[in-house]
Amino acid sequence: MKKIDVITRPEKLVALKKIFMTHNCQGMTVSSVMGCGRQRGYLPEMNFVGDDINLLPKIEVFVVTEDEQVEEILADIQTAIGTGTNGDGKVFVTDVVDAMRIRTNERGEDAIK
Ligand SMILES: Nc1ncnc2c1ncn2[C@@H]1O[C@H](COP(=O)(O)OP(=O)(O)OP(=O)(O)O)[C@@H](O)[C@H]1O
Ligand SMILES: [Mg+2]
Repeated sequence: MKKIDVITRPEKLVALKKIFMTHNCQGMTVSSVMGCGRQRGYLPEMNFVGDDINLLPKIEVFVVTEDEQVEEILADIQTAIGTGTNGDGKVFVTDVVDAMRIRTNERGEDAIK
């Protein structure tokens, strides 16, 4: 199992939900977060002030999915929400060692189906 963690612009939530629905993901978690990437949160028209960091509103959306689905989901994310501009966002993929559906005590992949 893999965790796909997407941090991107808030207005991309609708497109992300559609992608995860298309791939039959059985759950997702969405948070409002603040963040910056390598521009340190500065827009081109803003004056860059020394070593300050400006945090911008972003959303973080994660799903835990089967390994085989990861590349297709990443390809769809790139196609659907990439604009080619700074701040498009980032995806982090990590291994998930186990899961448990609390109601049934199902474990591993059974818990995410
Ligand atoms: N290395 C990182 N660790 C944790 N969060 C990150 C990291 N890089 C980016 N993020 C998160 O992703 C959001 C979007 O990052 P962003 O797309 O600006 O990345 P970038 O590396 O600056 O790429 P770009 O040059 O295309 O803007 C950030 O606001 C931050 O919340
Ligand atoms: Mg950036």
